[in-house]
Amino acid sequence: MSQNDFAEANRAAWNQVAPLHRRHNFARLSESFSRPGYSCLDPIETGLLRGLGIAGKDVAQLACNNGRELISMRNLGARRCVGFDISDAFVAEAQELAAIAKQDVAFVRTSVFDIPPEYDGSFDLVVITIGVLNWLPDLAAFYRVVDRLLRPGGRFFAYEMHPVLWIFDPAPDGTTLQFTHPYFETTPFLDNEGLDYYGNTEYVSRDKYSFQHTLGDILQGAIDAGLRIAHIREYPHDISNRFANLTDKRFLPPMSCTLIAEKGA
Ligand SMILES: C[S@@+](CC[C@H](N)C(=O)[O-])C[C@H]1O[C@@H](n2cnc3c(N)ncnc32)[C@H](O)[C@@H]1O
Repeated sequence: MSQNDFAEANRAAWNQVAPLHRRHNFARLSESFSRPGYSCLDPIETGLLRGLGIAGKDVAQLACNNGRELISMRNLGARRCVGFDISDAFVAEAQELAAIAKQDVAFVRTSVFDIPPEYDGSFDLVVITIGVLNWLPDLAAFYRVVDRLLRPGGRFFAYEMHPVLWIFDPAPDGTTLQFTHPYFETTPFLDNEGLDYYGNTEYVSRDKYSFQHTLGDILQGAIDAGLRIAHIREYPHDISNRFANLTDKRFLPPMSCTLIAEKGA
């Protein structure tokens, strides 16, 4: 399958789950964004983005889902904000939320690999968060996009699920982890497990494809693209909802990480 085939399959899977996420989240997000200045970003992300001087910066978010984070960044003072996502339904919801927030935030439906050249060199910050890299088959191609979107001196910021987390699934009772996938897997992973990590509705997903990247792949990919690693941190807390019910926390792997990489001036 080509990169485009993977993206189109995943587009259908994300469009399929969008109404389920919406049922769970939309009323709450609408109410929250009707309050001026609302941000859904946690203290770690807020602190790092403020440290990057987000106020007044032009920001792109790749695979931005329903835009809740990018609208929050705009509420933190970001200047031009553009979100890109492959899902028609999530982009439509993001536009609705931006209107509710009365914020000028643009959302574009596209695969990250097909972002038009008109956006090249337009951003001070390119951001990804919470479960993006695992949908992308080609990290080198991804970093080429990051590099072309950034202005000289711009920064890439990732607040991601730690890549080691993908070797685990919650055990059937949800309270602990079990090993399910090899860390060094290189073949695409096809599955039909539902994506409703908010409401936990069980359904058969359209075919979706995900990709294991090691921490080394993620760092080396940035280096190979000519970006300078300025910051990497690992954390014990879960930023996805996937592991929300873990109660046996004695032997947890790193659950999340932050990465900042700079483009040369
Ligand atoms: C787990 S969600 C990101 C969650 C988001 N950061 C949040 O917390 O709300 C992953 C997103 O990646 C998008 N996606 C997957 N493959 C993509 C691609 N090739 N190009 C653009 N977006 C993609 C999906 O549509 C989905 O919205």
